[in-house]
Amino acid sequence: CGVEAMEMETEAGGRVAAKENVDPVANRGAISPEMDAHEEKELPVTVALMVRPLVGAELVDGCRECVSVHATEPSVSLVSEHKFTYDHVYHGSGASEKALYAQCVEPLVRGLLGGYNATVLAYGQTGSGKTFTMGTARDASRDFASETEREPLGVIPRVMRTLFERVAALPGDTSVAIKVGFIEIHKEEIRDLLRPKSAVTLRDAPDGGGVALVGAREKEVRTIEEMAKALRDGSNARATAATGMNDRSSRSHAIFTIHVETVSAGADAPGDVTRAKMHLVDLAGSERAKRTKAEGARLQEGIQINKGLLALGNVISALGDDKRRRAKGAHVPYRDSKLT
Ligand SMILES: Nc1ncnc2c1ncn2[C@@H]1O[C@H](COP(=O)(O)OP(=O)(O)OP(=O)(O)O)[C@@H](O)[C@H]1O
Ligand SMILES: [Mg+2]
Repeated sequence: CGVEAMEMETEAGGRVAAKENVDPVANRGAISPEMDAHEEKELPVTVALMVRPLVGAELVDGCRECVSVHATEPSVSLVSEHKFTYDHVYHGSGASEKALYAQCVEPLVRGLLGGYNATVLAYGQTGSGKTFTMGTARDASRDFASETEREPLGVIPRVMRTLFERVAALPGDTSVAIKVGFIEIHKEEIRDLLRPKSAVTLRDAPDGGGVALVGAREKEVRTIEEMAKALRDGSNARATAATGMNDRSSRSHAIFTIHVETVSAGADAPGDVTRAKMHLVDLAGSERAKRTKAEGARLQEGIQINKGLLALGNVISALGDDKRRRAKGAHVPYRDSKLT
């Protein structure tokens, strides 16, 4: 049964994280009994678990669900009776996609216009439904009216809809510029999905503000249709291949970034500029070569995917360790992988 986890962060200028059901970090979170209310408020990361329904091939093979979702609390149990607790747990299709968006992602889109950076990551084993949930599949950004119970819209199309609705509702004297970027990290190389032949390199940003993607296009979009086209074109350019566990497995980490710049002309704060960005990340799935039956190029990809995810796990552990995060000169190993 596919299980995937998503993490979101609201801290301005902050970093990102993700993890899966069997990860030791699974029970860390705002719901931990050791935390008091004050600490809960400070926690910059929310973890939501989406358990997808069994898909065609699994039903044909006679698979049965191995995760039971608790009715009264956001936790699940595996057949082994290990219990894992999250901030939110969703199960199934349709209504659960809507609830996940409303509870975990929509507040971040509202924050984006207020100048807060945010990241949403889909993390989980290969075939667990990350691409489906994020909406970076090949039919990305299909007509919003085409949403059905069986084919719900993904997170990214919903973000677009909320963003443009909120921009339309801003006072007339506020101007908003929106740009999008879409890159993939494939075997530790970065490619621009909006301009597939161009190479992208990572450099330290000149102002000491993190890293810059040199050569990656930031495309200005004025309408939801233009943004949807960028998502669709980039998703089509992404590296995918069939493996033993997913006939359209993402072989790269894909990052769709929305940059928003708001200039207010109101009497209170004329000329005030607010900038923020939102990263929407569809990671490649963690995998075991034995189960994906990967060989040759697929196996090499799998090794790189697992390496990147391991580095991400280490960064999350460092960030999630409150003492380590606050300590002066604390080391967070961001440079172990291009993903981090
Ligand atoms: N919530 C869901 N409801 C119905 N079907 C789903 C759901 N989530 C995923 N699926 C189906 O499960 C299959 C695998 O999903 P998907 O390709 O999104 O997995 P993935 O996690 O991105 O895998 P990989 O890491 O290999 O890229 C697809 O056929 C997809 O349509
Ligand atoms: Mg995928």
